[in-house]
Amino acid sequence: MLLEVGSRSGRYGVNMEPGLAGKLSALLNDARIPARRFIVSNTTVWRFHESAFTGVTAEDPILLPDGERFKNLQTVGRIYDALIRARADRASALIAIGGGVLGDTAGFAAATYLRGIPVVQVPTTLLAQVDSSIGGKVGVNHALGKNLIGAFHPPAAVIIDPILLGTLPRREFRAGLYEVIKYGVIASAPLFQRVAATLPALFNRDPDALMPIVSESCRIKAAVVEQDEHETGIRRTLNLGHTAGHALEAVTKYRRFRHGEAVAYGMLVAAEIAVARGTMAAADREALATLIAKMGPLPAIADVPIDEILEAITHDKKIVAGQLHYVLPTRLGGCEVVSDVTKTEIERALRTLIPVAAVSN
Ligand SMILES: NC(=O)c1ccc[n+]([C@@H]2O[C@H](COP(=O)([O-])OP(=O)(O)OC[C@H]3O[C@@H](n4cnc5c(N)ncnc54)[C@H](O)[C@@H]3O)[C@@H](O)[C@H]2O)c1
Ligand SMILES: [Zn+2]
Repeated sequence: MLLEVGSRSGRYGVNMEPGLAGKLSALLNDARIPARRFIVSNTTVWRFHESAFTGVTAEDPILLPDGERFKNLQTVGRIYDALIRARADRASALIAIGGGVLGDTAGFAAATYLRGIPVVQVPTTLLAQVDSSIGGKVGVNHALGKNLIGAFHPPAAVIIDPILLGTLPRREFRAGLYEVIKYGVIASAPLFQRVAATLPALFNRDPDALMPIVSESCRIKAAVVEQDEHETGIRRTLNLGHTAGHALEAVTKYRRFRHGEAVAYGMLVAAEIAVARGTMAAADREALATLIAKMGPLPAIADVPIDEILEAITHDKKIVAGQLHYVLPTRLGGCEVVSDVTKTEIERALRTLIPVAAVSN
């Protein structure tokens, strides 16, 4: 076992090892997961990885369509339908095998079916392995906004097999890697340096390269959520890059960027603000920009109107009682949450990234 995470509903283990998918049954037994186990996966993941999970359960897998647009209550309803038809009772558990969309959706179904049955998260994207599978946030989108419907439902166990990442499209892999870099910037210079030093091996999905960076990211996320399950204090630091990142995603209608790509831009904005304030050395911002550039091109932002980004930032749901909490890096491996960042500072930082001022009219 890699680590144990404390949550208000008890402790759960995060297990990680290359090849763990093939040992799933034994792990579930060890974790005392109820005997009736229902796999929830999506058609893409199942096509690639069904054979890794043979023998895990006698129940038919519940296969969902693939895509963020299916992360909604209708899809949750399909999970309920399958469970009710199979007469799943309280001695049942869901085994969520997939990326963040699948884990959030299946997790929400588990949180609400019979007022809650256990869910085991088996994340298959890098983002899900380092982020969404840990922490207990589950939920779905509403037609009027992302992640508006949800619950806290910590997993009964998290099982991470880096081999599963071998089939992940390169762009998805890269999107997850920006979140790893985020953990490095907020909490661990060694993690940041390790990513920079092992980039080719990481892109080759070499398990020896993946193991230390995935495990370190999980440790950071687990430590933060353990201290602050409901995002009032230190959990906010996980939002580095997400203020401008969410705004970029929203302004481009969630079509242009993978979430991690928008976060990459968002981290550059935050670093720029910090350097301009004199709270971070320019050399650290350069190191961040260099690593992000080394990972390959990001979708263009030159045509995204700055005023629309600013407008979206002020609508960010993370604004509590009119205060915009902004996570600013102070160095590689350190950050602070401040609430006095002005619109002008954000605008200036955006202009360094979007030099040809795009104006909407
Ligand atoms: N709960 C949380 O704390 C939390 C945190 C961050 C993000 N999220 C959520 O996570 C979601 C994004 O998750 P994501 O980035 O994993 O996207 P995703 O779940 O859409 O997966 C990306 C794509 O990769 C495919 N895929 C998954 N595993 C694969 C594999 N091993 N091989 C080949 N293809 C594979 C998926 O089918 C999908 O097409 C968003 O909905 C976001 O809101 C939740
Ligand atoms: Zn994120």
